[in-house]
Order: sequence, then structure tokens, then C-alpha cells
Amino acid sequence: MKLPAPLRRQLESAARRAAKASYSPYSKFRVGAAVLTGSGRIYAGTNVENASYGLCNCAERTAIFTAAAAGERVVKAVAVYTPTPQPTAPCGACRQVINEFGPDALVISVCQGSSRLETTLDQLLPSAFGPSDLRRRRKKAGR
Ligand code: THU
Repeated sequence: MKLPAPLRRQLESAARRAAKASYSPYSKFRVGAAVLTGSGRIYAGTNVENASYGLCNCAERTAIFTAAAAGERVVKAVAVYTPTPQPTAPCGACRQVINEFGPDALVISVCQGSSRLETTLDQLLPSAFGPSDLRRRRKKAGR
């Protein structure tokens, strides 16, 4: 998917802004994410950690769950910002969550430095398990 430059800038700025609210007292790794949805709106999120470490939630998932809770069902693009010299790609769990709503989503990672990553979800998560696998199962089972 080709994103017009102004929209891309908006998405990246939303991700940068979101990182400011990061709750990451344990890792001290601040992450911001923003998603562009089917309606054309942008939803942002940040990582929210927990004293019970396994319950930490990544920025990408916070952004996507916020969008889904607002009724959005299509993710066209995701931007991730980390205040690091090199860009950070979404973790495996986040790739799976992006796949649910944006199997062809554009995924952009930006950082403090000028280097950036630009790829697509299907490149990050080839042969993904997704909603269509469950549809096939239901059909086969005759339900
Ligand atoms: N984190 C994200 O927010 N997104 C990623 O894709 C990778 C990791 C967060 C989770 C945790 O709060 C911190 O970064 C260190 O793993």
C-alpha cells in the first residue's frame, strides 16, 4: 500500500507522540505506535508494563485494541516509534495481532536516527494463521 506523504507524516508523528506516555518503569524501553484504519482515522497507543512482567502490553497492541474497541476492523498501516538509534520491528505477538485486521498492512518503523524500516505484514509474518483458517475449519466440520 502506498501512503500519501502527509498521511505518512501524520501516522509517524502520532507514534512519536504516543511514546511520551509510555508506562515502562521495568524495561525503560519507550514505544509508541499508531495505526491507520479503514475509516481513515488514526489510533495511537503505547506500551503499558506491569509488575507481573508477563502482562506487559506492547504499543502496537494497545493501538490496535483501541481501534478495534472504537469499531474499526481494517488496519491499513502501522507506524512504530522507538527512541533508539535503529528502528524496531513489531514483536511476534504484535505481528499476529496486526494480521487479524491488516494482513496486507504497511508496517513502518522509525526511530531517533534517520534510519527506518518499511515493510508489509505479510513479509513479517509469512503463512500467517488468521481468521480464514477458522472459517475453513467450521465449513469442514459442517457447522
Ligand atoms: N515492546 C513494544 O511495545 N512493542 C514491540 O514490538 C516490542 C516490545 C515493549 C514491550 C515492553 O514494554 C518493552 O517494549 C520491552 O520489551
